[in-house]
Amino acid sequence: MPKINRFAELHADITAWRRDLHEHPEILFDTHRTSAIVAEKLKEFGCDEVVTGIGRTGVVAVIKGKQNTSGKVIAMRADMDALPIFETSGVAYASKTEGAMHACGHDGHTAMLLGAAAYLAETRNFDGTVVVIFQPAEEGGAGGKEMVDDGMMDRFGIQEVYGMHNYPGLKVGEFAMRVGPLLAATDQFTLHVEGKGGHAANPSACIDTTLVASHIVVALQSIVARNTDPLESVVVSVTSFETETKAYNVIPQRVEIRGTCRTLTDETRQMAKEKVEMIATNTAAAYGATVKVDYELGYPVTKNHPEQTAFAEKIARDVSGDDMVNGDALPVMGGEDFSYMLEARPGAFVFVGNGDTATLHHPDYDFNDELIPAGCSYWAQLAEQRMPAS
Ligand code: NI
Repeated sequence: MPKINRFAELHADITAWRRDLHEHPEILFDTHRTSAIVAEKLKEFGCDEVVTGIGRTGVVAVIKGKQNTSGKVIAMRADMDALPIFETSGVAYASKTEGAMHACGHDGHTAMLLGAAAYLAETRNFDGTVVVIFQPAEEGGAGGKEMVDDGMMDRFGIQEVYGMHNYPGLKVGEFAMRVGPLLAATDQFTLHVEGKGGHAANPSACIDTTLVASHIVVALQSIVARNTDPLESVVVSVTSFETETKAYNVIPQRVEIRGTCRTLTDETRQMAKEKVEMIATNTAAAYGATVKVDYELGYPVTKNHPEQTAFAEKIARDVSGDDMVNGDALPVMGGEDFSYMLEARPGAFVFVGNGDTATLHHPDYDFNDELIPAGCSYWAQLAEQRMPAS
């Protein structure tokens, strides 16, 4: 079974929904307009149950198959939130909200899952129950965790959960996935370094906080170069370095360093945390300065489960053909809060190609509407083949 024909007919509608969402981006949990539109459409499609307010602004709907002898319940998830970016794409439907933009394609994810819900509610050609999940705050707000914490998995009896993200650089409709870690744990740190400020002309009377902090920045790179097994993957990036004063003639009392650690296993995650603390503390001490380390654990590793991933790969092959599917893709050091759903239930997260477009989170980025039929067909066939009707 290749792409489902019905999505060729629905393509224009789904594109229109997507572009409307693109024009009205909403950030983190403030997806009020988006959630309202999603809930309204799901009701319009005739879903059996539409529940709002899960994980604050999340929406969940239930679609029962024409049979339910299997007792299976599988969930499909889309994210709805945008980013605090000033859009420069120049498209006719560009963001109307200054400083907010759908730069990660969550508008497309939402529209595609809506399209799949419309089809599944119309055809119901499966034996079991489909739950569609629309979550807020994927971009740093852990909206996925919020929905899980709200009891979503038990409340809807979800047994398996599936997610999808578009990926610039892969051909339109090309799929990529892997068993095990697909996306990284995303932790962050703030280092409050304190020396002894004073006149820049008199450094021997000071403890130069800027110099101490610089040594810390350099030393942190030894975590990747010297502490990580060469066959493992760790990223340590210092992303902000701020002195307390911007004067030319003052050695600052304080410097604040910020950064992120990305890891693919629990062991390297723990190691990176310990080393950041150790290196910062001891480097500061070597110069007579002090440091307060705030280390925050963010999204866990997005870990795909073997059985569900093999199934997802099969569906992708059915939809797009063997030469358009990479079942052994390399992991990516970005993060995903779908990881919380995969910790709660077995499932699989897959990438689908967005073609040759600007990268995710770039101000010129735009979701590629050409991939809608492939994305929707993947969802629909996942339901129909995972829970085949007789
Ligand atoms: Ni995203």
